Amino acid sequence: MPNHARRNRRIAGSAWIGLVLAIAGCATTEAPAASTAIVASSSGATAVLVAAGDRLFHENSCIACHGEDAKGTSLAPNLADATWLTGDGSIGAITKIIREGIDEPKQFASPMPAMGGADLSPDDLRAVAAYVWSISHK
Ligand code: HEC
Repeated sequence: MPNHARRNRRIAGSAWIGLVLAIAGCATTEAPAASTAIVASSSGATAVLVAAGDRLFHENSCIACHGEDAKGTSLAPNLADATWLTGDGSIGAITKIIREGIDEPKQFASPMPAMGGADLSPDDLRAVAAYVWSISHK
């Protein structure tokens, strides 16, 4: 039954698109919300802060070195994993790194400037640190 087979393929095709949309939906809307519960209890990184930090991270220089997905480039390390070259991954340690930069990188060739070279207010710094904390504590 060739018609039948074609229909099945079409159905499989749209299920696949549905799955991709579902995953994309999770990535943009549900993931931050889901991580908020854990976050709020221990670090003070609320959903509002994390969302603001996400925006700042992507609007500023951070992505030039750490990558659009924050998973690192040849210039700077992955920030979305549990491995830290400097500090213990606490929100305090992350904040200090961003505020002061890294003069002497442990693995990468060039330093990270203070504030990543960006013009971040104290509130911006808190937000961006909350964002980095949230993507590395899943
Ligand atoms: C010019 C490139 C550059 C820019 C821009 C930059 N970084 Fe970095 N970043 C680095 C380097 C290099 C390191 C240190 C790597 C090493 O120790 O070998 C680093 C380290 C870090 C670390 C610690 C990672 C770890 O594993 O210990 C954090 C957190 C971080 N950066 C956040 C940010 C944020 C947030 C921004 C934007 C405000 C930013 N960086 C902008 C290059 C950059």
